[in-house]
Order: sequence, then C-alpha cells, then structure tokens
Amino acid sequence: MKTVVTKSFKQTVKLGTEYAKTLKKGSVVMLKGELGAGKTAFTKGIALGLNIKEDILSPTYAYMNDYSGVLYHYDCYRLSCGEEAEALGLTDYFYGNGVCVIEWAENILDVIPKNALTVTIEKISENERKITL
Ligand SMILES: Nc1ncnc2c1ncn2[C@@H]1O[C@H](COP(=O)(O)OP(=O)(O)OP(=O)(O)O)[C@@H](O)[C@H]1O
Ligand SMILES: [Mg+2]
Repeated sequence: MKTVVTKSFKQTVKLGTEYAKTLKKGSVVMLKGELGAGKTAFTKGIALGLNIKEDILSPTYAYMNDYSGVLYHYDCYRLSCGEEAEALGLTDYFYGNGVCVIEWAENILDVIPKNALTVTIEKISENERKITL
C-alpha cells in the first residue's frame, strides 16, 4: 500500500494510468471517496493504461459503462443494496476477464468479490488529493 498526493486532475489521471499496469485480467477495484473526490478522474487514467481510446464518462445514470469488455466502469451511487445490482445484471462481470472499477462500491458491498482491491481518494484542498492504493 502506498499513498500519493496529487496536485491536479491531470496528476490523478496519470496515477490511474500507472496503477492500471499493476492490474490483471479480472481485477475488481473499489474506488472510495466523497462526491467530487476524483474517482472518475482516476478511472480515466486506468482506461488510458488499458489502451482504451474512448473518453470515460461518468456512468451515473447507466450504473455501468462497458468499454469493449476490457473495462467495466460502475457508479453505484444510486443503488441501495447488492440484490438490486444483481437484479440489474450488474454483478455478472465481477468474475469475468475484464477489469471492473467501481465507484460507490460501499452501496453494494455484499456482492463485491472478497479479493477486490481498494483505492481511496481524500480531498485535502481544492486541487489536492491524497490517494491510497
Ligand atoms: N488533484 C485532483 N485530482 C482529481 N480531480 C481533481 C483534482 N483537483 C481538482 N479536481 C477536480 O475534482 C473533480 C473530480 O471529479 P470526479 O468526477 O473525478 O469525482 P468523483 O469522485 O468521480 O465524483 P462522483 O462521486 O460525483 O462521481 C473534477 O472537477 C476535477 O477537475
Ligand atoms: Mg464519478
């Protein structure tokens, strides 16, 4: 586990790109942090690191965006339990070959694989983020 302080959105994206290189097929990553912490920014970096060319948009309304089966980007802010995620078919990808990156995984913790990784992003000022990974 290491802690890095980023001083801009770009630095957080870059850290995400470096982090992506440590991931394996089927890795599940829980991204923790308050609204606006930088979870989606970090995910943009992971996508770059996985050679995904598409722009990463927040999946808030879709719950999950599928980037060609390579990356599944979740935003579970509006889900209230694991059962709901299961009913929506969202948990089907947790044990597959793609990397799953999950914002607000806390809301569906009961269905998150036991071996999931955690990245925590804390806002320490307007532009600074303390990232533990
Ligand atoms: N060091 C930094 N790292 C990341 N984002 C930063 C940083 N400094 C400022 N920001 C700003 O913080 C915001 C982070 O937004 P982002 O959508 O990534 O947050 P989020 O954690 O995904 O929020 P939500 O829970 O609403 O989805 C952006 O507006 C970004 O420009
Ligand atoms: Mg987000």
